[in-house]
Amino acid sequence: MQRINTAHAVRTAIGNRSSVLVPTMGGLHAGHLALVRHARTLADRVVVSIYVNPLQFAPNEDYATYPRRIEKDCEQLQTLADIVYTPSDDEMYPQAQTVSIALPPLATQFCGVSRPLFFQGVTTVVCKLFNQCRPDIAVFGRKDYQQALLVDRMSQQLNTGVKIELHPTVRAADGLALSSRNEYLTAEQRQQAPALYRTLQHTARQLHTNNTAPATLCATAQQQLHAAGLRSDYFAIRAAADLGEPVAKTARTVLAAAWCGDTRLIDNVTVLPDGTLV
Ligand code: PAF
Repeated sequence: MQRINTAHAVRTAIGNRSSVLVPTMGGLHAGHLALVRHARTLADRVVVSIYVNPLQFAPNEDYATYPRRIEKDCEQLQTLADIVYTPSDDEMYPQAQTVSIALPPLATQFCGVSRPLFFQGVTTVVCKLFNQCRPDIAVFGRKDYQQALLVDRMSQQLNTGVKIELHPTVRAADGLALSSRNEYLTAEQRQQAPALYRTLQHTARQLHTNNTAPATLCATAQQQLHAAGLRSDYFAIRAAADLGEPVAKTARTVLAAAWCGDTRLIDNVTVLPDGTLV
């Protein structure tokens, strides 16, 4: 595994081999490592980028405290990745970023309501990473489903030539989706947090087995979260394909964000037409 700080050196190291990029902000956990292992099956060279992107954090968010432990991250990637790309702020943003990507209305819904500039920051840095590293494929986790859909649209509509692969969410034994932000939870909050996934699963099963209106199911789910000590940010049932209006007998995604103390958790469950949950 080579650690590289410049885009030019990444491209030289890849040469004319096929490559797959796993973009991360570091603070690696088993979920990231699963993405990297999957990436290994897709191309000749596996590149993992580690960059805490200032553009996707609002001033009141956790940019300063986001877990940064590059040496430990690199150790974990030693036998899994070929290249770990750790650009500096100057490499990513040599000029103040005055050019941005205009996103579809999906970017202002769900996570975009409480984080209005988040998806613009994400798609900008991902577009830069694609242009810098020029991978054939990029792997994203299904936990950030809205992000993955918007990145996919950006990649297709701007003709980056990068195919987006989604990898299933990796969970702790009690169902909590792995996330670098889980580190912020106190012991008591860590006990409360799995209620988010339980509620999503329960709602997805209800959606499949009875005719209750989605709005009623979401209202019940929000009460369940509240009873479990979480504060719902949003809880929605949408079409899995594009997070538009849900259509019966097609795949539907139940997606939610909830506050557990000061930590905002997000997760989702898709129910397929045959009732399988993914
Ligand atoms: O999902 C993340 O970790 C980040 O949003 C990403 C895609 C690496 C962009 O900074």
